Amino acid sequence: MNRRTQVGIVGAGPAGLMLSHLLHLAGVDSVVLEARSRKYVEERVRAGLLEQGTVNLLNETGVGERMKRLGLVHHGIELRFGGRGHRIDLSGLTGGSTVTIYAQHEVIKDLIAARLAAGGEIVFEAGDVSIHDFDGPTPKIRYRMDRSVVELSCDFIAGCDGFRGICRPTIPAGALTTYDRIYPFAWLGILAEARPSSDELIYAYHERGFALHSMRSPEITRLYLQCAPDEDPGKWPDEKIWDELQLRLAAGAGWKLNRGVVLQKGITEMRSFVVEPMQSGTLFLAGDAAHIVPPTGAKGLNLAVADVRVLARALTDYYANGNRELLTKYSEICLRRVWKVQRFSWWMTSMLHRFGNENENAFDQRRQLAELDYVTSSRAAAQTLAENYVGLPME
Ligand code: FAD
Ligand code: DHB
Repeated sequence: MNRRTQVGIVGAGPAGLMLSHLLHLAGVDSVVLEARSRKYVEERVRAGLLEQGTVNLLNETGVGERMKRLGLVHHGIELRFGGRGHRIDLSGLTGGSTVTIYAQHEVIKDLIAARLAAGGEIVFEAGDVSIHDFDGPTPKIRYRMDRSVVELSCDFIAGCDGFRGICRPTIPAGALTTYDRIYPFAWLGILAEARPSSDELIYAYHERGFALHSMRSPEITRLYLQCAPDEDPGKWPDEKIWDELQLRLAAGAGWKLNRGVVLQKGITEMRSFVVEPMQSGTLFLAGDAAHIVPPTGAKGLNLAVADVRVLARALTDYYANGNRELLTKYSEICLRRVWKVQRFSWWMTSMLHRFGNENENAFDQRRQLAELDYVTSSRAAAQTLAENYVGLPME
């Protein structure tokens, strides 16, 4: 079976769905191909913090209604170390910007609903997706649907299929340069039926390792613990997780973490990764397919959205005016911001985790504490953290 669309999108994560939505608003056709089921992508527990620019984009493009109702707007975060908490006043330091807690899978639900309501096509459970001929003007995507093989011809392919997708590895070896850093730790994350123990997020530096207190709603907490990169979650019964979180998050004797039923448990690996360029012929990579960040700065989802905003504008300019200039510059425009976000995510990660390897010594610990002390006592340093945390300008 042969079909055609203007832009073939691989992957129905935040990048693929947002791109399809933005293209639709600009009158450009697309088809999204997703390997997993709709139920799976709508329930997959991942990130939860939206930058101001991501929130604005969702609102401006008509998909922010549930987020406005259910999202939790935060004006600050807390850094805890040395037994004390220190607030970073995000709004006060950035001229009024905020961040919003709203789960990634809720954003996915909103985007899927909007695409389907507008007659858009998302092919779930597409099998054996492969991409072809992207060195020329009519690239093709092949996939299996039921028992038939479908060939989708397009003008452009958007590779939005995440870090383990097929688009990036299909680009001929030698055409891409990769920049990579793997950290000697991971995060054990839980989602729990427990009231948040604080109104704001808490990032804790502790001699036993990093911990993060976040939330999803007034009844649901999201918590993370630094752990070994090859940690077996089976070795962490719920009580042990709660005890460890209590130890690392406590600031002062009286502070008590609210406990509850653990709904979900998982390990997140920590890595920094970038490919350059983010394009090859008529194939454009966006989001985790092109780069990943360690989660400490809460940037992965936001960076995916920033990429497709640039890509949608470039494709719209091409279809409206025949202008290829922005498409040619896609990578260059994205990478300037990508590297700044990489820098921030690396910096937050380096400041807040115990590295625990032979390279870490007493000097490093003193330096980390000095860095935290500086960030929480100098307005200039706090402002640097705040303007990156709420999100650098999109372009
Ligand atoms: P993805 O969301 O990965 O979407 C890619 C889509 O492509 C998926 O739906 C996938 O099923 C599909 N796909 C893959 N291969 C194929 C194929 N061959 N054919 C068709 N479809 C395919 N960020 C944070 O900031 N904080 C966090 O706490 C956090 N936690 C995370 C936990 C986990 C387990 C993971 C994996 C990521 C986490 N992230 C976190 C990062 C954040 O979720 C990602 O940066 C974000 O999802 C990137 O969006 P994306 O659309 O680029 O990729
Ligand atoms: C969340 C995840 C993060 O990585 C982060 O830095 C802040 C919040 C979260 O899942 O809520």
